[in-house]
Amino acid sequence: LLSQIGPDAHMRMILRKPPGQRTVDDLEFIYEELLHIKALSHLSTTVKRELAGVLIFESHPKAGTVLFNQGEEGTSWYIILKGSVNVVIYGKGVVCTLHEGDDFGKLALVNDAPRAASIVLHKEDFNRILRDVEANTVRLKEHDQDVLVLEKIPAGNRVSNQGNSQPQHKYIVMSGTPEKILEHFLETMRLEATLNEATDSVLNDFIMMHCVFMPNSQLCPALMAQYPFPSQGTEQEKMDYALNNKRRVIRLVLQWAALYGDLLQEDEAAMAFLEEFYVSVSDDTRMIAALKEQLPELEKTVKQHKVLLQLFNTSDDRAQKRQPIRGSDEVLFKVYCIDQTYTTIRVPVSSSVKEVISAVADKLGSGEGLIIVKMSSGGEKVVLKPHDVSVFTTLSVNGRLFACPRDQFDSLAPLPEQEGPSTGTVGTFELMSSKDLAHQMTIYDWELFNCVHELELIYHTFGRHNFKKTTANLDLFLRRFNEIQFWVVTEICLCSQLSKRVQLLKKYIKIAAHCKEYKNLNSFFAIIMGLSNVAVSRLSLTWEDPSRNHRAYRLTVAKLDPPIIPFMPLLIKDMTFTHEGNKTFTDNLVNFEKMRMIANTVRTVKFCRSQSFNPDVALTNKNHQDVRSYVRQLNVIDNQRTLSQMSHRLEPRRA
Ligand code: CMP
Repeated sequence: LLSQIGPDAHMRMILRKPPGQRTVDDLEFIYEELLHIKALSHLSTTVKRELAGVLIFESHPKAGTVLFNQGEEGTSWYIILKGSVNVVIYGKGVVCTLHEGDDFGKLALVNDAPRAASIVLHKEDFNRILRDVEANTVRLKEHDQDVLVLEKIPAGNRVSNQGNSQPQHKYIVMSGTPEKILEHFLETMRLEATLNEATDSVLNDFIMMHCVFMPNSQLCPALMAQYPFPSQGTEQEKMDYALNNKRRVIRLVLQWAALYGDLLQEDEAAMAFLEEFYVSVSDDTRMIAALKEQLPELEKTVKQHKVLLQLFNTSDDRAQKRQPIRGSDEVLFKVYCIDQTYTTIRVPVSSSVKEVISAVADKLGSGEGLIIVKMSSGGEKVVLKPHDVSVFTTLSVNGRLFACPRDQFDSLAPLPEQEGPSTGTVGTFELMSSKDLAHQMTIYDWELFNCVHELELIYHTFGRHNFKKTTANLDLFLRRFNEIQFWVVTEICLCSQLSKRVQLLKKYIKIAAHCKEYKNLNSFFAIIMGLSNVAVSRLSLTWEDPSRNHRAYRLTVAKLDPPIIPFMPLLIKDMTFTHEGNKTFTDNLVNFEKMRMIANTVRTVKFCRSQSFNPDVALTNKNHQDVRSYVRQLNVIDNQRTLSQMSHRLEPRRA
């Protein structure tokens, strides 16, 4: 209890006694006194009684006294009984003044973090009404603006090695300005070698989601600015604080670089920052021996990116393994004209429609008023907007791109090849075992799934055009889902012989079962949804439809151990719902709760891949080249109307 005027002598005497030595009468006396203190009037009786047992009176009559310094360990929290204090932050100066009835210093205690600011006594006296100190929300202000809103939540049963002293609650970020959120995470980060997972995931939320509210172009300079501070420090304490601060920034940079992985090379500014940062750190290690510990890891990260860069620049022989598609990779792509001829253009994957138009115009020799149209096999036409990206990977299974002057739009028609096959392949794949098929499908799915970067899910959810980044790997994986679905329907509808059709159905059910055994939920659901497509399900067969039962799915996944290939469309749906149902900014502050929700979903992808998939040796040893190439070249009809018509021809509706 901080006060500049004392209560009466008796009260003062009791409050100076260590809490353990207070008698029942003492406690009663304090309690009675507390009832008269206006500043505490909003507290409940229970809280006042508890306070009576623990309150200590401190009087600091001198203005300018430093109560505690930023970076120190917290031992108490304070309520201002009378007077006011300044909140001071290194590099920022006085960020706000707290008055009578305000409390401060809870954050360090509850979160077991260093003090986020220094508190300096102020001289003027103010009369302010008490804010509820029990409040679950802490609002930090700088210059009269909220900069960070924290909320108290139960800490969960964390294991502690100090017995029962573990706090029961902690403050988590609900919203804040990007800079303050960054500062907060740096401050509360644990440096101990045994990083507890909870802290790691808290930081991970920030690292994964910052692109939404603080792009690298903003984050990198902020990190650079955080690194050397505080510049003025002669005393040992300040030196320690600065050192810890540096180590925290390094830790964050390492985690950040690890999350981006190869994507960093697409970002010149980020690469430049990484090198500059590395130079600063290695300069420092000459002076500060304690920083040496983290240098090798940082060096490895920087070098790794440089080496990779050279590798990709100079040689074409990429490793055998499928590599993720990068935005700068060039693709050869056919763009059709109204007369169904085509030109092949060569452009980077991440090209915008505008760039595609100019590439086409170059080839055709005239580009006045060209538009780019996405054409589905069913003849649906969509004119792409100049800023659209990922044009190649978001086409439907049999979709094609057309280019034409605007006035030809109405006459554009799909190509015959878009219709898909007219005969089934049952004859071929009848000879392949369901298990082999499921196995090869799973190997292929793993290749595609492993190429999907976690950030692609975020770019996809928040709109890829906002990031100017490609989501090509995710697009291809999602497209594979559709392809499998249509493959099932196509083969069944192209199979005219009833007995064969029954066999085919059974086969698909078996393949689905094997996919599930391989924990390949994506293909499992693709087949199930193919089987429940109206064109199939109306063939007088009744189907249970597990795909509708997402609850059951979630329970299943919760019980599975990785490696798992998740049911990607459901994950995407979850993220889109979270995105559309929650604002990204509230009152100009980043809605960090939303960030946490999205990050949690993205983390399930990480969990699914946390163990690598080992192909079944017994199956791969045999020669499966034919099965392998079969599952990689599915030919399908993706026009629902066509499929339904075929279905009616197979088994006409009974009158
Ligand atoms: P704590 O980190 O324990 O110690 C410093 C206290 O200053 C902090 O808790 C908050 O209670 C208080 N404070 C008030 N405004 C701010 C601010 N803008 N930034 C950081 N701390 C603040």
